Amino acid sequence: MTDANALNRRFVVLISGQGSNLQQIVTEAQAGQWPLEVVRVISNRADAPGLAWAQAQGLPTAVVCHHDYDSRQDFDDALAKVIEKDRPDYVLLAGFMRILTAGFVAQFKSRLINIHPSLLPAFTGLNTHARALEAGVGWHGCTVHFVTESLDHGPIIAQAALAVDRSASVQTLAERVLRLEHMIYPRVVQWLAQGRVRLDESNQVHIQGVAQPHIWSQL
Ligand code: GAR
Repeated sequence: MTDANALNRRFVVLISGQGSNLQQIVTEAQAGQWPLEVVRVISNRADAPGLAWAQAQGLPTAVVCHHDYDSRQDFDDALAKVIEKDRPDYVLLAGFMRILTAGFVAQFKSRLINIHPSLLPAFTGLNTHARALEAGVGWHGCTVHFVTESLDHGPIIAQAALAVDRSASVQTLAERVLRLEHMIYPRVVQWLAQGRVRLDESNQVHIQGVAQPHIWSQL
């Protein structure tokens, strides 16, 4: 490892599908020469398109398939072992569609970050865009947050919002929100890589040089 690499913060990225957030992060990090290294991309699905993309980029990859384990606990234990081998500073959930056990979350406390396709705390869980349309919300968006034990909750690092068009379909809304995800997740990763994000004892997020709240909006 060169001296320059030694200064890089180490990121493991967990994906289950397309990996478009992963791609955006890696592409921007390379272009901006951020002080980070994606030390491994791990998927719970061997056929995840994002995994093939990572392999094509020459990134180290691994598959930990949830079907190979009898319980959620066993899967999370195996996953944690694979992750810890690479000694990551941060573990990014980027479309990783598994509910994690409390033990796993505790093991990676303050190192585990997620992106969720809604303005949390609204619409935790699945089918966020359909539920936002059904609820008739005026604003929708996405959130990057530290992960805590309760699903899709935790200290918010950044959000991006858009005004919902009354004629939107689930598909068009999902596409617009994904574009916002591609704006904010790389930004957060850049801050993390630069050592600018701090979580205090009261679980408040502080970002050096960035005024709060960290929200982007698109009308
Ligand atoms: C993204 O929209 C992400 O917010 C969502 O999965 C998609 C993954 O897209 N994650 C969740 O719903 C987690 N609760 P990608 O694989 O193209 O990055």
